[in-house]
This record gives sequence, structure tokens and C-alpha cells, in this order.
Amino acid sequence: MPAGVKELVALHGLDLDVGEGEFFGLLGPNGAGKTTTLGILTTRVLATAGQATVAGADVINDPVGVRRRIGVVPQRANPDRGLNVLENLVFHAAYFGIPRGEAIRRGMEHLERLGMQDKADEKVDALSGGQQQRLMIARALIHEPEVLFLDEPTVGLDPQARLSLWELLREMHRQGRTIVMTTHYMQEADELCDRLAIIDRGKLLALDATATLKAKAPGGTLIELELDGPPGAALDLARGLEHVTGADATDSVLRVQSAAGGRIISALIDTVERNGCHVKNISLTEPSLETLFISLTGRKLD
Ligand SMILES: Nc1ncnc2c1ncn2[C@@H]1O[C@H](COP(=O)(O)OP(=O)(O)O)[C@@H](O)[C@H]1O
Ligand SMILES: [Mg+2]
Repeated sequence: MPAGVKELVALHGLDLDVGEGEFFGLLGPNGAGKTTTLGILTTRVLATAGQATVAGADVINDPVGVRRRIGVVPQRANPDRGLNVLENLVFHAAYFGIPRGEAIRRGMEHLERLGMQDKADEKVDALSGGQQQRLMIARALIHEPEVLFLDEPTVGLDPQARLSLWELLREMHRQGRTIVMTTHYMQEADELCDRLAIIDRGKLLALDATATLKAKAPGGTLIELELDGPPGAALDLARGLEHVTGADATDSVLRVQSAAGGRIISALIDTVERNGCHVKNISLTEPSLETLFISLTGRKLD
């Protein structure tokens, strides 16, 4: 290594298994090691230590076997901009020995499924960001791989394109394809993934079913009561209620953590009103991956 260059260990002892047909997520902030992990699993990055197999093939001893079994949607769409949309698919299929006629047939089928059949002859640059991402997915699937890897597939897409990509991914999951996706969007992980690995700074912090992870989030449900004035003594009284795990107040908002979800709401309202305040508004926030991430790292995940 050249002088002055510091060695960085991108992943430390990351150990995980993904089941067949699972929609698995790697969730973590920028720099967590998501792309590195995907790079190792997709044979783009050579790990300095450790081992991994994908659909039975070893990434080090049989990279060609791995590549045949996987489709990859990279973090940055990298279509061949010199080729039109359909040719991007046909060209890619040729790497896997798929004859041209068959590749055109499959390519058109994919484009139709993605609602892009009328774009077949367009240059890639004429496509929107969402359409380019769809093209990347079609390209990844053209050789009918067993496992689909996607690296932050919705970064840079507008909300509508994001939602429609989610729907597409859900559909592929329903059809039984194994999907491994990275994301730094908590909501995306929550909406799509059966199981999640939360990683940060190259380390695995948590690995479980998405619902189980959320249930592990500390503090329980957050109940916020907007009052017509400062809660005063109601704050201490709220702290004393059964199932309340914490409470604080700012100006006219009383914030209570409940281990029993919304079931304590009527007791809370009683307490507040007996102290001469009126409740103007109530909101409930369920335990989330966000609160779990904060408790694991002391930081927010943006
Ligand atoms: N080619 C590289 N050379 C040096 N450091 C890198 C390289 N690629 C990634 N890293 C570093 O490795 C760590 C993990 O990066 P990465 O896997 O890209 O994270 P993520 O995809 O979760 O944002 C980061 O600290 C990043 O700066
Ligand atoms: Mg990345």
C-alpha cells in the first residue's frame, strides 16, 4: 500500500444466510459496507478473507457459476448508452449464450411487463430515471437468474417512480424469486423485506425478520398529546401510569412512551383533563426501525 494511505476494513466478520425465495434487505447508512457486501456476493469485489456461496456456487472458486445464477442491478444504472433499449438486453443475453432470436423474444417480454414495449428502439438517454432502473432490472433478469441483487435501487427516483418500482419488486418476490436488496431508506426496508440485516461501519448490528426487529425497538409506542396549554403536573402523573415507560413535555405537547400501544390513551386523557388541560390532538407512532437504529448506534439513519 502506498505511504500515507490508511487501510480500512470495510466489513468485519459479517455472517449471514439468505433463504430461497426470501426478500432480504441490507439496511445501513452510507459507508456501512452495503455495496462492498454485494460486491463480494456478486464477484465484483474480492474479499481479503472469509467465504460466501450464492445458490450453491462459491464466489471465489466458481465466480462464473455465481454470475450465471445471479442478476445484478448496480447502485448506479450503467446501461450501454450507445445501444438502444432492446439491444441493451440482447447484448447482455449474449454473455450468457442466449441466441439473438430468443434474446429479442425475452427482451420484448420483459419490456412489456415493465410497460416499456414502446421504448424498445429508444436510446437509453431518452428514458426517465425510473425507466432506466427498470431497464437495469430487465437486463438483470434476462438470463433467468435464481437470485436478484439490487444495490439501493430507488435512490434518485421521484416518489411515484419509487412506489412503482416497489410494486415491481413485490411482484417478483411473489413469483418466488430470491431478492437481496440494499437500502438506506428505513421505510423501503420495512415495506419490502421479509428479513433484514442492519449494518453500520462494516458490522452486523441486528439480523431478524423485519417485524421482529421493529418489536425490539425500545420505548414502545410513542403517544403525543397536543394540549391547549402546558401539561404541568400531568407530566409526572403520566409517568406514574401503568405501561408508561417514559414521558416528557415541551410547551403544550406531552410525549409518552407506552409499552401497551394505544391502550393507555383513555387513562392519559383522563389524567390530563383532571389537571385542567384539554387534548386538541393525539398521534401514535409505532416502534420503528428508526428507533431501533438509534438505540443500536446512537445516531439517526439518514
Ligand atoms: N474502492 C474503495 N477504496 C477504498 N475504500 C472504499 C472503496 N469502496 C468503498 N470503500 C469504503 O468502504 C466502506 C464501505 O463502503 P460501501 O460498501 O460502499 O458502503 P455503502 O454501500 O454501505 O455506502 C466505506 O468506508 C467506503 O468509504
Ligand atoms: Mg453503496
